[in-house]
Amino acid sequence: MTDRSRKQPRQREYDDPDESNRPLPWLFGVFAAGMVVWGGVYIMGPSARGNPSFGDGRTLAALEAAPAGVVDGAQLFTGKCAGCHQATGQGVAGVFPPLVASDWVTGSDARLVQILLHGVQGPMDVNGVTYNGLMPAWKSLSDEEIAAISTYIRSNWGNAASAVSAELIATERTRTADRTASWNGGAELESMP
Ligand code: HEC
Repeated sequence: MTDRSRKQPRQREYDDPDESNRPLPWLFGVFAAGMVVWGGVYIMGPSARGNPSFGDGRTLAALEAAPAGVVDGAQLFTGKCAGCHQATGQGVAGVFPPLVASDWVTGSDARLVQILLHGVQGPMDVNGVTYNGLMPAWKSLSDEEIAAISTYIRSNWGNAASAVSAELIATERTRTADRTASWNGGAELESMP
């Protein structure tokens, strides 16, 4: 009389499955801890220190040297311009003109400020190559910010033109306050009053 089918219905049932407490294999714990240590060393270890491809590579000394509250032209350039003109200021051949050794950058400061305030759309010659792209307008930036960017591009990568003051931006902004369109290429900029 041990036949299962002869038992009471309740007794014929198997027990409900039970998810018993099965801890992770300890080897997995060792592996995970190893990954955490390796990650920490990778991010903060000796090979990462001073490596410019890891985050912002500025040293504490450089940060302390930059007075607080002063607009940083290099930082603005990286954020707003380098995407097109590249961090090296060399641009992209045929598409984005170079700022290095460009007369538009190192020549008339007022004209440079106008390029930045209103942007350019139309053919313009830069170092012997004609570009016909679209340079966005930056008039939403403050006078101090445009001055800092202008000064940065005029004094880097071998460019050695004078600094641009926030007062000049204010003057140029008022002078062309009515303008809504971009400058129509190099010809209009050259004949700019
Ligand atoms: C979306 C891409 C783009 C961005 C962003 C951009 N530019 Fe330009 N820039 C251009 C193009 C394209 C031209 C050429 C316009 C043309 O052909 O009419 C140009 C032209 C110029 C010129 C005159 C030509 C030369 O190479 O000297 C200057 C100066 C300049 N840009 C500075 C800047 C600065 C400073 C910033 C950042 C505030 C900036 N640009 C952001 C695309 C860009």
